Amino acid sequence: MQLPGCSGHNTPLWGGRFGADAGITARHFTASIDFDHRLYREDIRGSRAHAATLHRADILSEEELEMILAGLDTVEEAIRSGKATLSRDHEDIHTNVEVLLADVIGPVAKKLHTGRSRNDQVATDLHLFVVDVIDDVQTGIRALQRNLVALANGHADTVLPGYTHMQRAQPVVLAHHLLAYFFMFERDRSRFLDCRARADRSPLGAAALAGSGYPLDREFAAGLLGFSGIYANSMDAVSDRDFIVEYLSAAAITMMHLSRFAEELVLWSTSEFGFVRLGEGYATGSSIMPQKRNPDSAELLRGKSGRVYGSLMGLLTTMKGLPLAYNSDMQEDKEGLFDASDTLLSCLDIAAGLVASIEVDPGRMGAAAETGFLGATDAADYLVHRGTSFREAHRIVGEIVAHCEANGLELADLSPETWRKFSPLFASDIVERIRTRGIIANRNLAGGTAPDSVAAQLAMARDILGRG
Ligand code: ARG
Repeated sequence: MQLPGCSGHNTPLWGGRFGADAGITARHFTASIDFDHRLYREDIRGSRAHAATLHRADILSEEELEMILAGLDTVEEAIRSGKATLSRDHEDIHTNVEVLLADVIGPVAKKLHTGRSRNDQVATDLHLFVVDVIDDVQTGIRALQRNLVALANGHADTVLPGYTHMQRAQPVVLAHHLLAYFFMFERDRSRFLDCRARADRSPLGAAALAGSGYPLDREFAAGLLGFSGIYANSMDAVSDRDFIVEYLSAAAITMMHLSRFAEELVLWSTSEFGFVRLGEGYATGSSIMPQKRNPDSAELLRGKSGRVYGSLMGLLTTMKGLPLAYNSDMQEDKEGLFDASDTLLSCLDIAAGLVASIEVDPGRMGAAAETGFLGATDAADYLVHRGTSFREAHRIVGEIVAHCEANGLELADLSPETWRKFSPLFASDIVERIRTRGIIANRNLAGGTAPDSVAAQLAMARDILGRG
């Protein structure tokens, strides 16, 4: 795409009221073509629908409509192929398309803007963009979820420590851990769908703010654009960007989930943990330390959350003081929206690939679950089942853990006699009861880490994926 900048001295569209030179520097400062050229497809879609609506209202003849539609096809292809020259002198994508259309079809092009404003035009473009990008995000989340389920499927029996406060807490199976992320991403998906439902409204016909002065059938235009309905209020239609704020919030939350997952992969791939190895394509070496295998992709998944949060904060801040209706501040909505969308889509893609590349070390994971007194809660529960209050049981097991620490032992090393020294309620089955497998098997309620519970979660996940 050519963006020649100061290419000559064209009369702006509002040239009728303004004097000779409104100031090139200021005009270029207010121009948005450097970034909103990305909306050319949406803009041309909107123009096609508007032209058809003008024709329906007998404002354009059949012949004029056909000329405009054919001209728009030509302009779209010229922009797509990079042959069209887009200029800052024409400020934004809307005006550039109109100027290009006039180059192709002549004066009839000047009729296209009848009953329309760039205010409802840009709002329409952005609604189309958000609805479409959400569809891409859905696809991206699904691919990641599928890879999580595939990995979980192979690790329903792989034990690792579950952590709280980054301290080993209770043993879990890897499938359980991975499915936690599956369900987070499922909520993300539904958040995007909620946002999509609200963005699925056409602002077209709202014109500058008060509604078009022509009898335009707004429902007809909305239908042509694939929207489910129209904005009920024209001032609202042109002046809110809450649908973008909502989209960016959903994007920020998804990035937060991706970042947490990435952080686990960074930790798990250290030599200290050694739980996983990330595929070579997702790690890089160091320019100075030959032994290094840096988890760069995971680090950047974690790091890129910052810029998406930034886009959300930026737009919220831009919008907060704006009176009705359109204000030029709103032009600042686009770069954050585009950057957040590009970032999110590439992060989803990388995360899916990263998951598929993970090599798990079940030995390291299992060994980590055998140390750190992960059976302590279950030992306390054992006493509770035999009539001890939980607080008292907690105290007794605390003493047992202190005894182990003092003697370099794990709970599994204790004989039934030693257990009984701390409480006569311990019978010899305590030894089995606090084995890792026993602890896991005991958590067989809905959502737990026991084999049946995890199998049920896997089935649920597969069912969700099966629904598309
Ligand atoms: N470039 C503008 C934007 O992105 C389009 C709308 C301009 N409207 C206006 N009245 N200046 O918001």
